[in-house]
Amino acid sequence: MTTDLIRRRDIDQIALLTLANPPVNALGRAVRQKLAALASELEADDSVRAVVLTGEGRVFVGGADIGEFDRPPEEPHLPDVIAAIEAARKPWVAALNGAALGGGAELALGCHYRIFAKEARLGLPETALGLIPGAGGTQRLPRRIGLAPAIEVITAGRTLWADEAQDAGLADRIAAGDLIAEALAFARTLDGPLPQPAGAASLADPGPAFWEEARERIAKAARGNPAPVAALEAIHVGVAEGFAAGLRAERETFLRLRGSDEAAALRHLFFAKRAAVRPAALRGIEPAPMARIGVIGGGTMGSGIAAAIAAAGLEATLAETGPDALEAGLTRVRAIFEAQVTRGLTDRAGAADRLARVSGTVGLGALADCDLVIEAVFEDLAVKRRVFEELTRLCRPDAILATNTSYLDPERIVAGLPNPDRFIALHFFSPAQVMKLLEIVPLAATTSRTLATGFALAARLGKIPVQAGNGEGFIGNRILKRYRAEAEALLFAGASPSEVDQAMRAFGFGMGPFEMQDMAGLDIAFRAREAARAQGQDLPEGPGDRLVRAGRLGRKSGGGWYDYASESRQPHPSAEVAALIAPLVTPRPRPSAMEIAERLIGAMAEEGQRICDEGLAQGPADIDLVEVHGYGFPRHKGGPMFHTARKGPTRAGGPACPGPTNADPRKGGAAPT
Ligand code: COA
Repeated sequence: MTTDLIRRRDIDQIALLTLANPPVNALGRAVRQKLAALASELEADDSVRAVVLTGEGRVFVGGADIGEFDRPPEEPHLPDVIAAIEAARKPWVAALNGAALGGGAELALGCHYRIFAKEARLGLPETALGLIPGAGGTQRLPRRIGLAPAIEVITAGRTLWADEAQDAGLADRIAAGDLIAEALAFARTLDGPLPQPAGAASLADPGPAFWEEARERIAKAARGNPAPVAALEAIHVGVAEGFAAGLRAERETFLRLRGSDEAAALRHLFFAKRAAVRPAALRGIEPAPMARIGVIGGGTMGSGIAAAIAAAGLEATLAETGPDALEAGLTRVRAIFEAQVTRGLTDRAGAADRLARVSGTVGLGALADCDLVIEAVFEDLAVKRRVFEELTRLCRPDAILATNTSYLDPERIVAGLPNPDRFIALHFFSPAQVMKLLEIVPLAATTSRTLATGFALAARLGKIPVQAGNGEGFIGNRILKRYRAEAEALLFAGASPSEVDQAMRAFGFGMGPFEMQDMAGLDIAFRAREAARAQGQDLPEGPGDRLVRAGRLGRKSGGGWYDYASESRQPHPSAEVAALIAPLVTPRPRPSAMEIAERLIGAMAEEGQRICDEGLAQGPADIDLVEVHGYGFPRHKGGPMFHTARKGPTRAGGPACPGPTNADPRKGGAAPT
């Protein structure tokens, strides 16, 4: 789309500049060029007394153009453009019509005055992209709102809404009505000296203990992303050595991080996520309504799904088989909302509203007029089939009927039932009110409308939808199976469970594969293997099977891959497990921590590649989204496909799927560059 990028309109000696670079008015090179040219043009124009700068659409400026970060920086650089505006003799008024993020916030900070629309906000989310603000944000914000609040905004990515910005002294006013009219009127009143620039202020150094505590706290929360601590360090330089030194340190760090693996990984996920929510194949397809949603089964999964639906402002009816089971399900839902209050995610009134949107029912009769029903009952084919048989009798023929199965073949659950166009699998992850991933699995007869409804539900619930083909374990659990098998294979190579777990923690996972199995319980996967064996699959007896047969089911039985003292979650290496594994070990050089991690990630990427080759995923970026948002893969490593491609192909071409990838490689996608 070609636009003017920045439109100028002069009204009574005020130049109104409107940034018009859809979709988010990003400050790409052409916009910076035009802004720099306008800054000097307006300075020389005697017919202009003041400038009002605003954005077209819902966003003021969504930041630097992230798509440019894969190329070397190009002039004019944003810090120079902002410096020219700050140094102007005429007042510049930023009229924030919506979000001012990253470079957009820095641009607003460089203006002499800021007027916020009620719904506007200002934030510096660069650290979420593995970067730090690169155009003065780390220096101007602390001088405007104080050190501690600025550190929080910059390192934790918190945004300031209009009223918070006003309380913090950042907003000169909040528009009561028409933002532009009020900004123009405000600009007309300005004829005194301009306010002091941010750089004129110095900040008191709170001393080493403050910085040490902040560094420790921020590093812990960052979980391997180096950017938040780097931002803190740039702020520290500005406090200790002054504004100019702070700006130099900031720019140097920004340029260094811009080329880092972590920033490339986080950019990849940024674009992958945005591509995933809007699949091209569903453009223009109207989803079914979802005014009334039924959830069948009040266990951990069903209650979590009902809670997620209610938290999104939709109505959920939770169905159970009897009054006691229903009461237990509703109690789980209540407990979820109570925990959300404790964690500050909502207040008491919000929790009460959410709870009021969940109703309970015994039997399925009350689901007859639902637009969408999600089945989350026991993972048993016959039980699930009975549920779907009844639903097809009860519900409208156009109601969407979804199963939340993890391991069963959804086609077998609905085989032979009428109106197969409306069946789909929606695979939530536990706890469903928290986990962002939703695998959406169309069946052979699923129509685009049904599929579009799955995506619309994900958008409404704030989930990240990934379309998966109907293969065993879909995407995530299939890779998990391979990951676990590879972890066991490492034991045969002489690594201990704790060495494997530590290697994966060091890579960035919150937990290693063996501690994770102990937490979840070893028996579920064991039962699945036994069922497969019963059906004739030739699955060799592995150490996991032996542990379960020896009664070691994980934490809940006091021991699994590790021993646990009663009531304790602290794992201790187990002599029993070591003795069990010892005869299986083939002596060879023991793998190092790095080799362990690379081997496990390599196995995940290889399985991901197979899934792509079999047409069961839309592209490698979707594999990465599944692992990052459903299985704790460290975000700053970008997912197994990205990580493996970036480290260099292990075989010709490296991971790549046939067909379109859903991350645009021009914007830093997974394709090796
Ligand atoms: N640079 C380049 N493209 C950007 C962008 C940026 N800074 N911010 C958003 N976009 C693109 C998205 O990729 C998406 O493109 P697509 O339509 O091709 O998928 C489009 O703009 C809309 O973005 P989306 O996030 O879907 O819109 P939204 O209305 O939900 O949110 C924002 C708008 C600005 C709040 C959100 O896009 C955002 O947070 N952007 C990043 C802000 C940021 O981190 N800035 C610092 C950069 S260093």
